Amino acid sequence: MAATSMDQLVSLCKRRGFIFQSADIYGGLQGVYDFGPLGVELKNNLKAAWWRAMVYERDDVEGLDAAVLTHPKVLQYSGHEATFTDPLTDCKKCKNRFRADHIKDGKCPVCGSTELTEPRQFNLMFKTTVGPIEGGDNYAYLRPETAQAIFTQFRNVVDATARKAPFGIAQIGKSFRNEITPRNFIFRVREFEQMELEFFVKPGTDLDWLETWKETRMNWWYAQGLSKEKLVAHFIDKADLAHYSKATYDLEYQFPHGLEELEGVADRSDYDLGNHTRYQSELNIQAHVHENKESAAKLALFDDETKKWFVPFVIEPSAGVERGVLAVLSEAYTEEVLPSGDTRTVLKLKKHLAPVKVAVIPLKRNQSEIVKMAHDIKNNLLKTGIGRVMIEDSGNIGKAYRRHDEIGTPLCVTVDFESIEKTPATVTVRNRDTMAQERIAVQDLESYLKNFFLK
Ligand code: GLY
Repeated sequence: MAATSMDQLVSLCKRRGFIFQSADIYGGLQGVYDFGPLGVELKNNLKAAWWRAMVYERDDVEGLDAAVLTHPKVLQYSGHEATFTDPLTDCKKCKNRFRADHIKDGKCPVCGSTELTEPRQFNLMFKTTVGPIEGGDNYAYLRPETAQAIFTQFRNVVDATARKAPFGIAQIGKSFRNEITPRNFIFRVREFEQMELEFFVKPGTDLDWLETWKETRMNWWYAQGLSKEKLVAHFIDKADLAHYSKATYDLEYQFPHGLEELEGVADRSDYDLGNHTRYQSELNIQAHVHENKESAAKLALFDDETKKWFVPFVIEPSAGVERGVLAVLSEAYTEEVLPSGDTRTVLKLKKHLAPVKVAVIPLKRNQSEIVKMAHDIKNNLLKTGIGRVMIEDSGNIGKAYRRHDEIGTPLCVTVDFESIEKTPATVTVRNRDTMAQERIAVQDLESYLKNFFLK
């Protein structure tokens, strides 16, 4: 089968209601997207799978949901004010601006001119006014990564939970970067969501944990349906490391536009906790009241063996939600030629990611008994906790199957005349991938579906 193209995905996403350009009716806000009726379900399912694997299924991770608006000092001392930049170049002829490191052959990608300005550093953070008076110190940043609040709330979380190393704090939330050239659909955008874990370990054990987390995260992406041959771990050269990183693996996926980063797994050493501790001391900020004076304002842990405080090292698996959505969509998108010669588009999403789990189709939309049975079935199935179950009453069974193949609905349940005429009542269950249909007694439907979805 030919590789999925970006055009195929963009078209499907708009047509079926996964993803829309933001402010479409006004010509669109560049680098910003809205998730539609199916996109919100897919995105929520991906985030829920991450949260389950990273928090619920582990015994060493706590969660956090911190604010987007971020105190400037946090991002000053994290190094982002000084170094969170991309090189910017201007075309002197057509006046467009580009990331200098994305320019090929020294030519403007729009007009082909070679008259480009020398690259200069452009800070990617969005700054905003806090309160009604502009200027002076009345500003904050929209966070460029969720990670910083995990570091600044480190002491509070440790005090509240009595955690010892190794342990982690997980967070899912919005981040913002004023990308010079947003591109490749939802791959490089200005507003996006991150799924980040900061995993705190004893110094000296960090490189082993880096390997462990790289493996854990690769396996998680495989469980979301990504194929082994399309996902690689790339150990980043020292010269290309982010300002906070001691060592990093990029987990790179073969997206429709090329092999690019889906997730970073970084060893941030004690860079962040160390900086926030050091600067708090320099500024003489007594940020925390703690019974042990030595640890006041220190983002540190007490080692029961050595009886000393230490600043833990941090391993950070950091994934982009939009990039994850793009990867699973691209992997799942399939065009199949049927024995009849027709082609069907089918989204072979993993069941737990599918936006709609079951479509219940009343074969005759005007036949009240059939419609009532379809609604009763839907309401009963909802109680199983398998996820979204919807009534599909377009009235044309062929169209309904095509639509649900295209949006990745794993099962369709059809209620027909036989369902209401015979005892015990039965319905047809159709499988998305095999297209096989079987007749199931309505009374057995709940256990059939629980078995299918939850096992
Ligand atoms: N926290 C790592 C990143 O945002 O890239």
